[in-house]
Amino acid sequence: MNEDAYTLRACVQAGMRCVLVHGPGLPESGYIQVPSEVETIFVEDLNNVETMLSALARAGMVDRKFTCVQTSDEEPLVATAALGMILGAPAMSPAVAMLFRDKWLQKQVVSEIGVPVARSRVIDDIHHVDPSVFDGFAKAVLKPIARGGTQRTSVIRSREDLVAASTAMRRSGVPTRTFVLEEFVDGAEWVVNGVVFDGAVQFFGVGVYSEPCLTTVSTHSAVQVETLDPTTDADAYDLVRPTVAATLGALGLRSGVFHMELFVPADGRPPVFGECAARRGGGMTQEVVQRKFGVDLGAAAVACAAGNDPKIEVVIAPETVGSTSLVNKAGVLVQCPTVEQLEALPGVEYARVELPYGSRIEESLAGTWQRAGQALVTGSTPGEFRARRDEVVRWFDERLVVAPQGASHAELRTWQAAHWPDIDSRFGTYRPRDFSSATG
Ligand SMILES: Nc1ncnc2c1ncn2[C@@H]1O[C@H](COP(=O)(O)OP(=O)(O)OP(=O)(O)O)[C@@H](O)[C@H]1O
Ligand SMILES: [Mg+2]
Repeated sequence: MNEDAYTLRACVQAGMRCVLVHGPGLPESGYIQVPSEVETIFVEDLNNVETMLSALARAGMVDRKFTCVQTSDEEPLVATAALGMILGAPAMSPAVAMLFRDKWLQKQVVSEIGVPVARSRVIDDIHHVDPSVFDGFAKAVLKPIARGGTQRTSVIRSREDLVAASTAMRRSGVPTRTFVLEEFVDGAEWVVNGVVFDGAVQFFGVGVYSEPCLTTVSTHSAVQVETLDPTTDADAYDLVRPTVAATLGALGLRSGVFHMELFVPADGRPPVFGECAARRGGGMTQEVVQRKFGVDLGAAAVACAAGNDPKIEVVIAPETVGSTSLVNKAGVLVQCPTVEQLEALPGVEYARVELPYGSRIEESLAGTWQRAGQALVTGSTPGEFRARRDEVVRWFDERLVVAPQGASHAELRTWQAAHWPDIDSRFGTYRPRDFSSATG
């Protein structure tokens, strides 16, 4: 359900006959290439079971016997589970899927088993908010109850802030209505990516964001993850292990890939559960995990969904492995370095340039997925990794050519002259050519 290059790759490699149900995003972005072996079905809304069922019926597929129904995408998780039930095919249970979407329900379940979580309150309709919902918080985070990518997420410090956020969303007609208001949790943000099969955590890897995702989005900086090593950073693995096993058990995820976020206080207090998704993490999670641990999360997701033991064999690379997004100046993308040029930089083993020329890069980021590209970086030590990672970001930014948005033609002419001094874009007066020496 919905395009994911590594899920598709895994299906093809496993020799599975695969039907990809996708939304308008696939043809509109033109980015993911669907292998020719894969049948595709277009639906207008992947969160809507009716559209999916009808599209499958039109294609004559509702009576087909499917091995499983699976998604590696965040949003259609519950609809995918429901579709599996309707088609009589193995899939995640809708009740479990719901706990991996609704941030408030998820925290209730996790807090009941004694794992620290932020206090959380539901705002049914952000257009009509009772400001007293803020009372008792000194600093809070307002976010949609079931979205991803740090969309429409903001820090709220007072009743007035909350009312202002509500008014702004009502005025701009934001369609998302149900939000949660959570106590702000300090600390570093860690990420745990792993695989659970038959109720047992077969593998997990821990990473640290260079700064929390909310800071990244609000300051328009790069999303960066650095993987911790299970041997040299064994303390970090010991710290999170009990939380990982207990929360997955309580939430009922028995088989599949997961992506958990935790806040780790600097003063040694136990980690505070942030959230957990029943899918692979975004960004370069697939590549970073494959490089550091030798684990193909796309293949693991497909195996688990089909009820097969993913047979994870971890092979730990000694290097520090991580990733960074490449995003900086706002404007219309005119030119940027190529994948080949990026991969020629020290430690950059893999890169993606995700925006075609002509794309707009907005002043403010709508979420963690907005970027011009990404790079997987390695270093023989954490210090070397960080230096290389920072250098890629700087190097890319220096070579990123963006035209200012909303600029007057005069401003664009000045901008053009700065980049292409040989091209004159000003009015040149007509001077008749002298043809007097011409013959014939
Ligand atoms: N209670 C909180 N305290 C502090 N920061 C928070 C809190 N809740 C969310 N954040 C910040 O906002 C970001 C987005 O929140 P959250 O992870 O809950 O939602 P999301 O949009 O599903 O995330 P993702 O970007 O992982 O898809 C977090 O990564 C974190 O930086
Ligand atoms: Mg998150």
